[in-house]
Amino acid sequence: MTFEPKIVGFLCNWCSYTGADLAGTARIKYAPNIHVIRVMCSGRVDPTFVLKALESGADGVLIAGCHPGDCHYQEGNYSALRRYHLLKKMLSDFGVEEGRVRLEWISASEGDRFAQVVNDMTAQVRALGPFHRQKAPAEQATAETASKAS
Ligand code: FES
Repeated sequence: MTFEPKIVGFLCNWCSYTGADLAGTARIKYAPNIHVIRVMCSGRVDPTFVLKALESGADGVLIAGCHPGDCHYQEGNYSALRRYHLLKKMLSDFGVEEGRVRLEWISASEGDRFAQVVNDMTAQVRALGPFHRQKAPAEQATAETASKAS
């Protein structure tokens, strides 16, 4: 049995979500592993959303927004890009593999690109395997105590 990753996709309403919609209406096939959450702008994606998704069972997280210069809120995607670089650094420090979190620019007319990104990311995360989140120290201590008692 092959591992099928769960990928959470935060898609901006104006470009990427519409691109995903176009992929659907154009009947472009893509991996069913993505669970889409529509946000108004990629700049709305707080890094804690990504951490929460990983903590809640996602194996990968995609953030997708309008191309640079096309954000409907002027600079939301630039904020997303700055946060993404910081988030990547932090995740790397925590030992989270490189390909689990991705930021992509997908316009409303790029249904084929949306499908390609989802397929690429699904293959990449599938190759990485399931995400094993680090347990919080308190959780770890409880688990160790329980295993010693049994
Ligand atoms: S509205 Fe799409 S990234 Fe800001």
